[in-house]
Amino acid sequence: MSEPVIAHKGPYPVEVEAGKTYFWCACGKSAKQPFCDGSHKGSGFAPIPYKAETSGEIWFCGCKHSADKPFCDGTHETL
Ligand code: FES
Ligand code: FES
Repeated sequence: MSEPVIAHKGPYPVEVEAGKTYFWCACGKSAKQPFCDGSHKGSGFAPIPYKAETSGEIWFCGCKHSADKPFCDGTHETL
């Protein structure tokens, strides 16, 4: 698998709703960041599902290089 595209060198804060499942874009090619829009097809990447347990703000990784996907872990600062 090749390297993901850096969609944005920083997190995307998103208000999530408890009980909803979100599909985080792992390839970096989606036009609907931070979520998957199907653009990963043929890239070897697949979206990572995240089910919100509680409602609130989540900081989703925009650089796609986090070690704690789909969340930002600060790795973007080293890219
Ligand atoms: Fe990817 Fe922060 S945006 S680690
Ligand atoms: Fe990136 Fe689907 S568009 S994982």
